Formats: sequence, C-alpha cells, structure tokens
Amino acid sequence: MSAIIIDGKKISEEIREEIKKEVEELKAKYGIIPGLATILVGENPASVSYVKAKQKVAQNLGFYSVQENLPENISQEELIAIIKKYNNEEKIHGILVQLPLPKHIDEEEVINAILPDKDVDGFHPVNLGRLLRGNPSFIPCTPYGIMVMLEKIGCDVEGKEVVIVGRSNIVGKPLAVLLFQKRKPIGNATVTICHTKTKDLAFHTKRADILIVAIGKPKFIKADMVKEGAVVIDVGVNRIGISPSGKAILCGDVDFDEVKKKASAITPVPGGVGPMTITMLMKNTLQSAKRFVSQKKNP
Ligand SMILES: NC(=O)c1ccc[n+]([C@@H]2O[C@H](COP(=O)([O-])OP(=O)(O)OC[C@H]3O[C@@H](n4cnc5c(N)ncnc54)[C@H](OP(=O)(O)O)[C@@H]3O)[C@@H](O)[C@H]2O)c1
Repeated sequence: MSAIIIDGKKISEEIREEIKKEVEELKAKYGIIPGLATILVGENPASVSYVKAKQKVAQNLGFYSVQENLPENISQEELIAIIKKYNNEEKIHGILVQLPLPKHIDEEEVINAILPDKDVDGFHPVNLGRLLRGNPSFIPCTPYGIMVMLEKIGCDVEGKEVVIVGRSNIVGKPLAVLLFQKRKPIGNATVTICHTKTKDLAFHTKRADILIVAIGKPKFIKADMVKEGAVVIDVGVNRIGISPSGKAILCGDVDFDEVKKKASAITPVPGGVGPMTITMLMKNTLQSAKRFVSQKKNP
C-alpha cells in the first residue's frame, strides 16, 4: 500500500483564497481591515523565519500587518508594555508573540498580558479554558490546522483510536481536547496522549487509527510503530542540515519514506502541517476582525 500524501500546502491555499475574499468583503462593507501585530524578541533563526512567513502571508491576504523586532535583552516590563499598546489599538485584531522567548522573560506572564479577544494564537488561559469547556474560542493554530486537514481529507474521527505523541501546551494538549470533544465532524475520538514517561510507546502508537506526532525528534517514528492503514500526521519540524543554496533542510518526527508504505494517508514535512498553522493564524485574525465589526454594530 502507498499512502495518500496530504497536501497541506494545497489545502492551505484553498483556505487562503476564501480568507482573501472575506477580507475584501469586510473592507468594502465596513471599511475594516484585519490587523495583525507580530512581536519577535531576539534573532533565533527559526523564529525569524516563522515570523517572516507569517508577515508575508498576512500581507498577501490584504491584512494590515505590523511587526516589532525587539532586542534579545528587552525587559519583561518593556515587552508587556508593547503588548498593552496593541491591546488598545483599534486597528489591531490579533497579537502574536513568537515563542520561545529569551530565558529572562516569563512566557506565561507575557501570554497572560495579551487581551484574550486578540489572542489569535489561542494560548491565553481564558481561550484554553473555553476550549476545554467546548465553548467558542481562538483555537491554537497547529491543532486547528490538523482538524481542518482531517476534515478536508474526509477522515471520520468519531470512535477512532487517536494517539498523540507529545503533550505540549501548543500542540498535544489542545489537540487532544479538540478531538475528544462531543462535536462533529471532528470530535468524539478516543484519545491517548504519550510523552517521555510513557511505557512502551510503540504499544500505543501501533493501536492508533490516527497517529499524531509532535515531539521534535527527527524520523523517530518508524514503520514498525505504526498500524497498517493508519492516518499519520507529522507535526515535527527538525532542521537536519543546510542545502547548498543556504536553505535549512527539514524533516519531520516520522520516518516518512518508510511509514508512507504502511499508512493510508500521511503529511509530509515540509508541506504538511506547517502551512496549515500559518493559515489558521490568519483565519483566527479574520475571525477577530469580524467579531470587532459585530460588536460595533451591536454594542
Ligand atoms: N508545523 C508546525 O506548525 C509546528 C507547530 C508547533 C510545533 N512544531 C514542531 O513540533 C515539534 C514539537 O513541538 P512542541 O512545541 O509541540 O513540543 P515541545 O514543547 O518541544 O514538547 C515535546 C513533547 O514531546 C514529548 N517527547 C519528546 N521526546 C519524546 C519521546 N522520545 N517519546 C515520547 N514523547 C516524547 C515530550 O514529552 P515530556 O512532556 O515528557 O517532556 C513533550 O511532551 C517540534 O519539532 C516543533 O518544531 C511544528
């Protein structure tokens, strides 16, 4: 068997086209342009390239987009003051602080400083609490992108055994909540989360109808850890070298070439989950701008 390769880039492009149209409508009808503020602290090469990519997509979609490039040694107070400035700026509907932050800054404090209604990354405790309760909230972008991908490929999640490897606050935990939520079409799954203290990881991964891996270990999941016919979603982004043209060479957490022979569908790295993450950030920002419009109409 050879797996369907889930084309995250193509799915993303389709969604971006829809977003673009909605942006034009919003502008024509209400004079509102979705505004995204991206805050980068320091010069971590991965963070620099993620922020660049997000800014580029925002601009292509017709968003109003501002970027703060802040020095590595900025104080926590100064950073929070900048976030508060954007909290109060009408033209900004979404604030994104690129993680990780330098060690001297308390990440939690910074996330907590973002107004929940502008927290388009969905990391604020208010949004995570709403997510847990099954109420409308900003859904963290990577889990949101994975849900949309599963839906687009017609993967019926209900009653399925989903195994997530990795329990981070940004991927594993919110994704588990979304997939076991009493909701259709993507929900009602039976979810297992694995981590470094899981005994016999392969026992769990081999049970998975849908296996989602977010650990940051290159090609860690081998074919003998995967069930025949499983849907495999690889979240990992690992930099394993530099190409002659100076570009980073990336691979996922799954041994793609081997596992694709066994899976029914699989995401590649790059070109799988990554583009979806950026797209869902734009979708959240658009949603925030639309909410702003409806609040203005019905104060
Ligand atoms: N494509 C995208 O848009 C996107 C978005 C976000 C992240 N990522 C990528 O996804 C990967 C994970 O990032 P993250 O921020 O979610 O995770 P993270 O905060 O780095 O945490 C990694 C998680 O994996 C678990 N883990 C690590 N090694 C393991 C092993 N050998 N067996 C079982 N579990 C193991 C850890 O367990 P413990 O909790 O026990 O330590 C932890 O829960 C990274 O490569 C990151 O670059 C990609």
